[in-house]
Amino acid sequence: MKKVGIVAAGSYVPARKLTNADLEKIVDTTDEWITTRTGIKERRIAGKDEHASDLAFKAAQDCLTQTTYRPELLISTTSTAEKSCPYQASIVAHRLGLTNLAAFDLNAACSGLVYSLAVGWSLMQTQGYENVLITAGEKLSRYVDYTDRASCILFGDAGAALFLSTHQPEHEILTVELGSDPAGSELVIMGGLDEEFYFQQDGRNVFKFAVEKMGELIERLKVKTGITDQDRYFIIPHQADQRIFEAVAKNKGIPAERFISNIASFGNTSSASIGLAFKEAWEQRRFRKGDILMLIGFGGGLSWAAAAIRW
Ligand code: UT7
Repeated sequence: MKKVGIVAAGSYVPARKLTNADLEKIVDTTDEWITTRTGIKERRIAGKDEHASDLAFKAAQDCLTQTTYRPELLISTTSTAEKSCPYQASIVAHRLGLTNLAAFDLNAACSGLVYSLAVGWSLMQTQGYENVLITAGEKLSRYVDYTDRASCILFGDAGAALFLSTHQPEHEILTVELGSDPAGSELVIMGGLDEEFYFQQDGRNVFKFAVEKMGELIERLKVKTGITDQDRYFIIPHQADQRIFEAVAKNKGIPAERFISNIASFGNTSSASIGLAFKEAWEQRRFRKGDILMLIGFGGGLSWAAAAIRW
C-alpha cells in the first residue's frame, strides 16, 4: 500500500452572514430554538451571481497556495451544481488553469467529500496518481425554501478543498469505510421537479440514523486502526446538528471535546462542512503528531463515508 498524505486544506465562505436574529424576522422562529436544537448561530450565503463552482474554485485556490504540487486528478463533489455540463470539476480545473489531468464530479450528498477522498486514495493506489485535488462546492441556499422554518435555519454556503500526495506521507490516510442505505432514500430530498425542488427531510429519522451510524463508524475505525480510548483521537463529523455530536459522545462515552465543531458559525454546508471544520482545526493547531483523526460524513442517500488519518 502506497502512503498518501493530506498535504493541504483550503476553504472559502461568502462574506454575507445570515444570523439567527435575521431569521427571526423572516420565519416564526427564535435564536433560542435554533441554538438549543442545532447549535447554529449564523451561516454564510452566496450572492445571486456566486455559484457552487465559484465556492469550490476559491477553496481550491486557497488549497493550492499551500503546496507547490499540482494535481493529475481532480474530484469535485457537489449536490448543488449550477449546471450539469460543464460539470463542476471541469469548471474548477479550467479556472485554476490546470491541464493534463483527469477530472470528474462525485455526488454522495453530505458524505461527498469523504467519498471523494476514498476514491482519490484508491486511484492513487491502483492508477499511479501522485497528486490529487478534492473540492467541495455547495450553494445550499439555492435549494432552501425561506418560508419553511424547519429547514431554512439549517443551511449555509461554502467551499472546501483537500490535497492528497504520495510525496509527503505525513497526515497519512490509514483506512476508509463507505456505505449506503438506499431504503432511506426518501428521507432527504432536494433538487427535483416541482414540490421536490426545495430541501425537505424527515429530520427525526435522519437524526436517529446519524447518531447510530456515527457511533458504529467510530467503533469500526477504532478496530481498523487499533486505537483505544487511551489514545488521542478526534472526530471531524459532518456539521449537521450539534445535538448529533452530543448524543454520540454520550452513547459512546467519548469526551465532547474530541468532536470538532464549527457549526455555530457556518451551519450545515453539506459536503463542504467536514473540510471547513478540518481546515479550521488544522489552523488552530488542535492536532499533535500521532493523533488519529476520524472524518465522518453522513446524509442524504442515505449515505455514509469515514476515513482515519494519522496526524
Ligand atoms: O445534512 C443532511 C442530514 N441531516 C441531518 O443530519 C439532520 C438531522 N435532524 C436534525 O438535526 C433535527 O431533526 C432538526 C434540527 C432538523 C430538527 O430538530 P427536531 O428536534 O427533530 O425538531 P422537529 O422537526 O421534530 O420539530 C420539533 C418542534 C415542532 O413543533 P411541534 O410539532 O412539536 O409543535 C416544529 O414545528 O419544533 C418546531 N419547529 C420550530 N420551532 C421554532 C421546527 N422548526 C422550528 C424553528 N423554530 N425553526
